[in-house]
Amino acid sequence: MNILTGKARKAGVLGWPVAHSRSPRLHGFWLARHGIDGAYLPLPVRPEHFVDAVRALSRLGFAGANVTIPHKEAAFALCDAVDAVGQRAGSVNTLFFRDDGRIEGTSTDGWGFLESIREQAPGWQAGDGPAVILGAGGAVRSVAAALLDAGCPRLVLANRTVARAEALARDLGGPVEVTDAPRLEDASLLVNGTSLGMAGEPPLEIDLAPLPASAVVADMVYVPLETALLAQARGRGLRAVDGLGMLLHQARPGFHQWFGVAPTVDAELRQFVAADLLA
Ligand SMILES: NC(=O)c1ccc[n+]([C@@H]2O[C@H](COP(=O)([O-])OP(=O)(O)OC[C@H]3O[C@@H](n4cnc5c(N)ncnc54)[C@H](OP(=O)(O)O)[C@@H]3O)[C@@H](O)[C@H]2O)c1
Repeated sequence: MNILTGKARKAGVLGWPVAHSRSPRLHGFWLARHGIDGAYLPLPVRPEHFVDAVRALSRLGFAGANVTIPHKEAAFALCDAVDAVGQRAGSVNTLFFRDDGRIEGTSTDGWGFLESIREQAPGWQAGDGPAVILGAGGAVRSVAAALLDAGCPRLVLANRTVARAEALARDLGGPVEVTDAPRLEDASLLVNGTSLGMAGEPPLEIDLAPLPASAVVADMVYVPLETALLAQARGRGLRAVDGLGMLLHQARPGFHQWFGVAPTVDAELRQFVAADLLA
């Protein structure tokens, strides 16, 4: 049990609603593991109160906060400074409150996604070949920017709403193609960045047969943990990367800065958070 002192460091996650967020459980695990004098709280905040709430947290001495749906673009707009990754994504999920009152933001979803692939498909490199991404929403923005920054030679975007994919391609610049019929034959990575395949949503219907045997298939969906897409990939002998890894790794940079300890992702943490997903 963590007993707080008057010097406890404080962070949390702002969302509306926020009850579904696994971040308090995840950060709470790390706080307990490292015996840190600190707290990480769920912070339900309506959109119309978001800016006031963030400024209040900063004045209350919070070290920072995560931001989830629907606040990521509003968080981007209120930051005094956003790093290059956040600029490319056009949204931020992690805020740092500086002592001088400045608020800085970054987007760690893309970084967490790459770390998750490095963990679950060791040896894969962004420069190995083209990446095909299904979807063009907020999470894909951060992942696409991270893939290009990591040296991916070509991104292929396919999204139900083509105009959204085209807007993302324009914002990203670089070697990005938008299509409604992505070629899988030379892809080194296939990413599901849509909500298809998530519990309660329609399935993602795709035939993975054309993918090369060396390709990695990654799903951002993490409920269920083993999606039909990942099962099909494993059935074909392809390396499959689940969405839980991204969820766990994206949290590391915030925790490190807020609480002063670089946390790790391991089997014990995965089981702890996965148990909650199954519940
Ligand atoms: N693992 C993690 O840490 C993590 C983090 C963030 C998000 N995610 C997951 O990533 C996915 C996207 O999240 P997001 O925040 O980017 O959401 P978002 O901004 O709402 O984007 C949703 C995406 O799914 C597409 N989509 C939704 N319903 C569809 C349908 N019936 N047919 C085809 N496409 C459909 C949307 O297409 P349109 O543009 O046509 O609407 C859009 O591309 C979700 O599954 C979410 O759980 C995972």
